[in-house]
Amino acid sequence: MTRQRIFSGIQPSGNLHIGNYLGAIQQFVGLQETTDAIFCIVDLHAITVPQDPEELRKKTLEVAMIYLACGIDPKKSIMFVQSHNHDHAELAWILNTLTPLGELERMTQFKEKRQSAEKRRGVLSGLLNYPTLMAADILLYQTDVVPVGEDQKQHVELTRSIAERFNNRFGDTFMLPKEMLNKSAERIMGLDDPSKKMSKSAKSANNYIALLDSPDEILRKIKTAMTDSGSEIRFDKKAKSAVSNLLAVYHAFSKESIKNLENRYAGKGYAEFKKDLGEIIIAKLEPIQNRFRELEKNSDEVMKIIREGAERSGAISQKTLSEVKQKIGLIA
Ligand code: AMP
Ligand code: TRP
Repeated sequence: MTRQRIFSGIQPSGNLHIGNYLGAIQQFVGLQETTDAIFCIVDLHAITVPQDPEELRKKTLEVAMIYLACGIDPKKSIMFVQSHNHDHAELAWILNTLTPLGELERMTQFKEKRQSAEKRRGVLSGLLNYPTLMAADILLYQTDVVPVGEDQKQHVELTRSIAERFNNRFGDTFMLPKEMLNKSAERIMGLDDPSKKMSKSAKSANNYIALLDSPDEILRKIKTAMTDSGSEIRFDKKAKSAVSNLLAVYHAFSKESIKNLENRYAGKGYAEFKKDLGEIIIAKLEPIQNRFRELEKNSDEVMKIIREGAERSGAISQKTLSEVKQKIGLIA
């Protein structure tokens, strides 16, 4: 049987956090053993909101190093920067000409980001077209499975309908991809506000634990994380959303069941629970941070890996793109 193709991407903006790790990267590392995996650093998506050029360059390399530090192995997977393979922007344009405006306007992420963008400099048309670029990313590689956090599910569904529509009109061309969520950590919530997802674009760094936060910072952030009224440590998303989120993080990092955790901390206060949780996170992130520091000293090596990744990805994507161009009537 041929191996499944998986594809996923992360934007080089803000600080990667434990939500990105548990919702996405941790799955990538496991999947590369049994699938043909491609991981992208989606810089063209990052610029759909204003970015500082120097910062964007720095973050692009940082995400590459975080992928590697978390265990992405370039011998097993392809890892590259989106803008290095021009097929992405080209297919995205073609898909834009085939996607009704209304389908893009109803995307939840667009509606949310549009609100904050309006308050600042106005909404960029790239923000609206973000999902067609994401569809291009996925469809270029005939992807079977897209491991992502829950917030991206709607975009993968849209990708599927774009692909289906294309196939119906021009004949079978694209695989129809499916999303894959990490059930126990599909949506990690903000430490300072458990009603919203943990986000690297959050206003306060107390919202998230960054993968590169120091042990002291991690302990401080967990200590000051919001809790609910009453001191009971119990999983109940409605009545105790803050503590349930902390329990979900604890479970995702330690693999100890929520039931066990509830029993172990029965009658104990938040302080002890939070101290243990902080220490577990520190222990899990320590090897990642050590590898990251080693890679930082070797940025030439990292550049080489992503350049090779771009070539390897191009060899696959250009087949799909040529077929698309031929089918829609562009001459070669
Ligand atoms: P982004 O930070 O938007 O570039 O997202 C990168 C990956 O992390 C995507 O697969 C997201 O779905 C996932 N992700 C982002 N935030 C969270 C979160 N709070 N909980 C779980 N997964 C997340
Ligand atoms: N939109 C995704 C996010 O913000 C990032 C992304 C871009 C992506 N292209 C992708 C994820 C393709 C999976 C597949 O999280």
